[in-house]
Parts: sequence; structure tokens; C-alpha cells
Amino acid sequence: MKVMIYKTAEEIAEAVGRIIIKRVADEPTSAIGFATGASPVPTYEYIVNEFNKGNISFKDMKTFNLDEYCDLPVEDINSYHYFMNENLFGKIDVNPENINFLDGNAEDYDKESQRYAEAIKNAGGIKVQILGIGTNGHIGFNEPADEFTDEAFKVKLTQSTRDSNAKYFGGEEKMPKYAMTMGIGSIMRAKEIVLIATGEAKAKAIAAAVNGEVTPQCPASVLQNHPNATLFIDEAAASLLK
Ligand code: GLP
Repeated sequence: MKVMIYKTAEEIAEAVGRIIIKRVADEPTSAIGFATGASPVPTYEYIVNEFNKGNISFKDMKTFNLDEYCDLPVEDINSYHYFMNENLFGKIDVNPENINFLDGNAEDYDKESQRYAEAIKNAGGIKVQILGIGTNGHIGFNEPADEFTDEAFKVKLTQSTRDSNAKYFGGEEKMPKYAMTMGIGSIMRAKEIVLIATGEAKAKAIAAAVNGEVTPQCPASVLQNHPNATLFIDEAAASLLK
């Protein structure tokens, strides 16, 4: 696991944005794993800018998002479908047929998990997976747990995640209690992983992920076992690193 420390979120956005653009330029049909949350937004802005300058086409790129809320219509402004369309997919030339999401409203979550695993396999596997990190060390919606998970599954969100994300819903009572997320195994099978974290609120989780033991109690710590995982963080997020 590599750790790269930057002064500003813009520098992180450029560094990560360049990795994605180079990957797609080298192999236009690459499958890229996308994340939601505030952390990757500047990276998506950088990518949109490069696209607008005519520097890259995403026409043949395949996309797989990490997670989606359950019991929330995809049209809801808080759905991750909506988020990705607003921040990236609606602003570049990606073919809508190449966009993949987990169905948070699936009738059968096991079948949905199998479907997603197959789709990732058929796309040639995820070449670069973008991640954020929760204040409790979660990646995707893999909350602290007793075991590392493998393929996608339905998860009950923890209080800490609900506290962090309730602001978007205008109150905790309006926030979904469950989500569908790619499992740790599906994330770890990506060829390359880039995790973005900024701000002091992430410092504890980053220190546990980098300096702590590899444990499902801090899901991001598993990245220590990945052959090509890099953390792109700012000084505040790095402030508790040994
Ligand atoms: C959310 C998402 C994660 C994201 C994390 C951090 O709950 N499910 O994929 O990485 O929390 O979000 P933010 O970047 O807004 O701090």
C-alpha cells in the first residue's frame, strides 16, 4: 500500500484523474470502478474538464459503481445513480449501456450479487477502482464487521455512517437503513485501487487503515494486502499517521 500526501484536494484530483484518463486512453474499453461521496468530486471535475478540452473520450469505457442505497428510487436526488449522473456520467460521452450499478431495490439480493459479479467478469475485471473511506474505515458500504466479505451484498448501515450521511437526507429518519455494496473481495480483485481522503475527520480511519492491523473491524486496512493500492490524501487526513 502506497501513501501519497498532497497539499490540496485539487492536486489529488489531478493525480487520480490522470490515472483514470491514462487507463482509458491506453485501453478504451477498460472497466473503471466508481465511488460516490464528497471525496471523489474534484477528481470527477478534473475528468470532465479534460473531456471538455477534447483530451479524452470515454465512449467505450465500462463503469461499475461501488454501492447504492436500498429502498430509494434511482431518481431520488440522494441515490448514487443520481449522484454519478450529476457529477460525471451526464457530463462525458460514456455510453449509457456501459454504465453498471447494483440494484438497491432488487427482489433477490443474492441473484443481484451474482449478476454484478458476472457483469464485472464479462467486462474483463475492474482495471482501476476509486474509493473513498468512511470515518469508521468503511470502503463502499463495507462496515466494520467480524469477517471480510467477498461479492456484493445487502448491508445494514451503522450508526456512524447514518450520522455522517443523514445531512444529505435532511434528517436521519429519512435516510435508508440498508444499502447494496460491492464486497471486499470484489474490491480487492481490481487491478489497481486508488483511495481518496481529505480532511481531519478522516485522519483516524486513515491511521487505522495504514498503521493498524489488517482487520475487518477497519475494512480499509485490507488494502495493505493489495499489490497496487495507493492512498491519495491531504495533510489533514495524514495527520495521525506514524
Ligand atoms: C459513503 C459511501 C462511500 C464513501 C464514504 C465517504 O457512505 N458509501 O463509498 O467513500 O461514505 O464519503 P465522503 O467522501 O463524502 O466523506
